[in-house]
Amino acid sequence: MKNGGKTSFLPNFHKFSLKEKIRILKDFAQLNKEDLTLIKKYQQLPDFLDVENNIGPFKIATNFLINKKDYLVPMEIEEPSVVAAACRGAKLIRKGGGFFGKYLKNEMVGEVQLLKVKNFNEAKKKILKFKKEILEIANQTDKFLVKISGGAKDLTTKKIKDFLVVYLHVDPKDALGANIINTMLEKIAPFLAKISKGKIGARIVSNFAKERVVVVEGKVPIKELVLKNFSGKEVAEKILLVQKLAQFDLYRAVTHNKGIMNGIDAVALATGNDFRAIESAVHSFAQRTGKYQPLSEWKIEGDFLKGKIKLPLPIATVGGATQTKKAKLALKILKVKNAQELGVVAASVGLANNLAALSVLATEGIQKGHMRLHKEFIEKINERNKSKRTR
Ligand code: MEV
Repeated sequence: MKNGGKTSFLPNFHKFSLKEKIRILKDFAQLNKEDLTLIKKYQQLPDFLDVENNIGPFKIATNFLINKKDYLVPMEIEEPSVVAAACRGAKLIRKGGGFFGKYLKNEMVGEVQLLKVKNFNEAKKKILKFKKEILEIANQTDKFLVKISGGAKDLTTKKIKDFLVVYLHVDPKDALGANIINTMLEKIAPFLAKISKGKIGARIVSNFAKERVVVVEGKVPIKELVLKNFSGKEVAEKILLVQKLAQFDLYRAVTHNKGIMNGIDAVALATGNDFRAIESAVHSFAQRTGKYQPLSEWKIEGDFLKGKIKLPLPIATVGGATQTKKAKLALKILKVKNAQELGVVAASVGLANNLAALSVLATEGIQKGHMRLHKEFIEKINERNKSKRTR
């Protein structure tokens, strides 16, 4: 087993005392005194509640086995039921061998809008002729990035209405890439304007990250899907029907994807990532064919229910708020080596949340489990607020 022999399979984590939870975490991620002090400070905040998998700065999802490595996953989200659902989905997929995933590519695109170009064909030809020089100008921005990833790798052009648009394709490695790409675009724009005999318009990174796509798969032995009065086979078949509805009904597809994003956003927030960039990328990708589609699909193969999720995940382990104390603690607990590993983890959480949701929607119903946790959560808040008033 990877991860120094430490398992993340802890189905009873939510039942342990806070002290015990922290001990497990300390052991799993070799937390030091500074980490423990930080956690304690979060527990002393007025809104901290000792419920479910909450440890202070975030909640912890258990049971994740991804590419044969165990993960405890920090999730920042107000609803305890989302974390409970992630744990349940991960537990089921673990029974089928865990999640397996990888990025297909790691490219972001930025665009320069050129105005008042008179001869588009001539301008396009000129830009492509000077491609090497333009990429060199862009790559002067960050020599280190160029060394580790190649930096700006390509450029393409497109005439859109009265504009000539130049797209710059960049591998931002472990960063989200917005800052570096915007700087690159501002650097190349004057040269582009000069050779195209045009004027400079907008220069900005695009959040349509269709070249930064991650794919994660996982399967569950159908017999393990058994739920109250429903057999595993019945649950699997109902999941396929809910899936089919999402393929043809926009109302359902959007909610299907919202359930996936419950998990992904929570990982993004815990690790200091720009969840709005991720949301924009994901929903535009779902709409890329002109018909908004669910981002995951489920099918029955032999004795297994098989799930696959494919979505763009512009997520970072360097830069911006990923360097705050809380985010660094989350990354330490995750033990991820780079942004792509983090993206595979986040997509796995999305798939786990999706499985947990679909399995209850058409069987026992979402409200039972969700409302129980929600009620406990509200009761604890009321109890705490009351005790504060009487003090
Ligand atoms: C609620 O936050 C998310 C769900 O609606 C997702 C879904 O319906 O698939 C339960």
